[in-house]
Amino acid sequence: MSPDNRLPQFATPAGRRLTPEMVAAFNEAGVLILEGFASAAACDAVRTRALELVDAFDPAEVRSVFSTTDQEQLNDRYFIESGDKIRFFLERDAFDAAGRLRGRKEDCLNKMGHAMHDLDPVFDRFSHGPELAEIASGLGNTSPAIIQSMYIFKPPRIGGEVVCHQDSTYIYTEPESCLGFWFALEDATVENGCMYFIPGQHRGPLKQRNYRVGEFKLKTEVVDTSPWPEHLKVPAEAKKGTLVVFDGRAPHMSGPNRSDRSRHAYTLHVIDRRCHYPAANWLQRSPDLPLRGFVEAA
Ligand code: FE2
Repeated sequence: MSPDNRLPQFATPAGRRLTPEMVAAFNEAGVLILEGFASAAACDAVRTRALELVDAFDPAEVRSVFSTTDQEQLNDRYFIESGDKIRFFLERDAFDAAGRLRGRKEDCLNKMGHAMHDLDPVFDRFSHGPELAEIASGLGNTSPAIIQSMYIFKPPRIGGEVVCHQDSTYIYTEPESCLGFWFALEDATVENGCMYFIPGQHRGPLKQRNYRVGEFKLKTEVVDTSPWPEHLKVPAEAKKGTLVVFDGRAPHMSGPNRSDRSRHAYTLHVIDRRCHYPAANWLQRSPDLPLRGFVEAA
């Protein structure tokens, strides 16, 4: 890897005010890594709370979904209805041949989503505040609304690979406005499945669009079939407390976790509330749970 092929990485600036150099680096690469954004205590608090929620989760309800005859449709329904809920999604290899979970629940989960930031007080605290508003504003979004939160478990040994994609495929607005905020709650390394980005490729087209074609059916339309230049991917290794912020068009991926260590991370996706949010997007929320920005009280 040549030095100029590194992803832009800085210590989190005082007051969370991005410097012109940081903004320029974000615009150039489509991604910006800010070390030391969240304290270890804040990371631990959200991780502890996630494990409490996992403790209360009964995998049998998801197991029954997977064992019904029309698997795909019911599976989609559990996912599609999760935009304003807290739901759990297992890894593909979560069950053994006898249908039993392979290990502790947190070591079999892929993710939890998609509204912890509005429904759980500990997640709410981590997900809001003037510091995050300052980052969004520095990157041009002065009217942010948090559209989703995800807790990514990436468990030891079975944490699955995520293929190259753009988040605006799923979180689409007109004009596009999706920004991803990814927090390392534990050290993320090449060994335990850190993210990779292909810097500069966010200036290309949005290659796929995902949308509803029925109440519980999604379709992914391929607009541009050209392959990603994956040989140019650069790892986004991140120490605990690091924030990785990235453009909705920035292509990224993550490897499998074959190590013995988990790689917990928490993500928020924001849109610009001045943009149109199509009714065909998979993620729809009840009117009882209006969108909030980073500094609006519940
Ligand atoms: Fe993504």
